[in-house]
Amino acid sequence: MRRASTLIGSAAAVMVAAFVASAAGAPAPQGPSYTADGRMVFPKAYRSWVYLSTGMDMSYVDRAGDPDMHVLDNVFVNPAAYEAFRRTGRWPDKTVMILEARRAIQNGSINKRGRFQADVVAREVHVKDQARFKATGGWAFFGFEGAGEAPARMIPADAGCIACHEGHAAVDTTFVQFYPTLLPLAREKQTLSAAYLKEESAVK
Ligand code: HEC
Repeated sequence: MRRASTLIGSAAAVMVAAFVASAAGAPAPQGPSYTADGRMVFPKAYRSWVYLSTGMDMSYVDRAGDPDMHVLDNVFVNPAAYEAFRRTGRWPDKTVMILEARRAIQNGSINKRGRFQADVVAREVHVKDQARFKATGGWAFFGFEGAGEAPARMIPADAGCIACHEGHAAVDTTFVQFYPTLLPLAREKQTLSAAYLKEESAVK
């Protein structure tokens, strides 16, 4: 009996704790948030979101680039959006994807060959917020300054980001063709974009 009452007591304590947490108005987890003047608040928790891929020295404009500059870019997505994508092959409203570019360096510790990730050089966000960004298909881009965490300004629609993402990305303006855990899902759910399917068939 004593054991049962302890169990009931601790269950009640958990319920009270849950009630207190929700009454405190804990923010909805993971979704985008903005300042009053429309900048995006830095998504501090992104490093514990779902990891999608790392691109090495990727360049979409210049084949050669600076031979001494090496960058690795890591892509993360908020877990709720990832779960929805796994079920449907589509991104839900309030999807937040972040691309974190880091210098890839050679000299450090025991390393003799290859490169490892060092400091952040840039962080960019691609966010789906359908009501807010109606004019640009529900998506918008934001760029955080260098390694800074100050709220980011929205990147204007004519800056070139949208044009490339719309014209070449595999699913709903996101580059799922470069995210190896997502591409098979999109194929299975048949959510690949017409633009991507056309490019893919041209390569074969
Ligand atoms: C010429 C094509 C091109 C342009 C222009 C471009 N991107 Fe991308 N973007 C890509 C590719 C390719 C990837 C996949 C990166 C990877 O695999 O690591 C990507 C991925 C991203 C991601 C990760 C989420 C996603 O949508 O897949 C973000 C965030 C992003 N880009 C932001 C931007 C911003 C901001 C700009 C404009 C300043 C921009 N991009 C311009 C090709 C482009």
